Amino acid sequence: MKLELQGVHKYFDTPSGPIKILENVNLQVAQGGFISVMGPSGSGKTTLLHLLGCLEQPSFGKVFLEDTEVTDAEETVRERIRLHHIGFVFQNYNLLPTLTVLENVMLPMQLANVKSSEQITRAQSLLRLVDLENRAHDPVTRLSGGQQQRVAIARALSNLPGLILADEPTGNLDGRSSKEVMDVLRSINDHQQITTVLVTHDPKVAAFARRTFHLENGRLQDLTR
Ligand SMILES: Nc1ncnc2c1ncn2[C@@H]1O[C@H](COP(=O)(O)OP(=O)(O)OP(=O)(O)O)[C@@H](O)[C@H]1O
Ligand SMILES: [Mg+2]
Repeated sequence: MKLELQGVHKYFDTPSGPIKILENVNLQVAQGGFISVMGPSGSGKTTLLHLLGCLEQPSFGKVFLEDTEVTDAEETVRERIRLHHIGFVFQNYNLLPTLTVLENVMLPMQLANVKSSEQITRAQSLLRLVDLENRAHDPVTRLSGGQQQRVAIARALSNLPGLILADEPTGNLDGRSSKEVMDVLRSINDHQQITTVLVTHDPKVAAFARRTFHLENGRLQDLTR
């Protein structure tokens, strides 16, 4: 999926008045691109992901996914885009603790009314991709952090999205598990051309992307130029 932000500004209203988070942010990511965004805590990295993920709307400016403007799309449309076209990966995995590994991966397909036989086949093949097919029937809580994050990546891919948004996916992991998770994300990007936007505080993790950006004081700067 191709991404574009045009002149995006974002303010939040707080009890002590509006705060400026993003100021005239412009960004273009080609289909199959892989970018990382670094920057201090509170600089707006998660907010930027939420704008791309149709979870937030800009105060000014435009957001395009593919060539469709989604800036002012209705919530039902945004919800459908999130379910069918975007995979989200979070720092704390956000898996459902009462479900097995396989059931967690199947969940978004259930929401999208995928045929149940197809749900199982696809979930198994995604678990193979993240090297966890032999843990399919374990309660998800029995897995290590790195393994849980790989389940979350499989889940993010379950409705065959064009875009993956990963918010500090290695934030809770040690160096070795971080590398395993990043190898999986990089390999998916290499082989399936799924556009990937990664937020991280770790320069080693950021280096897995093809382009690196820095966000500070509302400004997004391309460090690869
Ligand atoms: N819904 C909201 N209402 C008010 N303020 C908000 C809201 N969401 C975020 N903020 C503020 O916007 C700023 C940017 O937050 P954001 O979560 O995007 O930062 P971040 O760069 O992801 O930080 P971190 O590295 O700590 O995750 C913060 O000051 C935060 O308090
Ligand atoms: Mg954040």
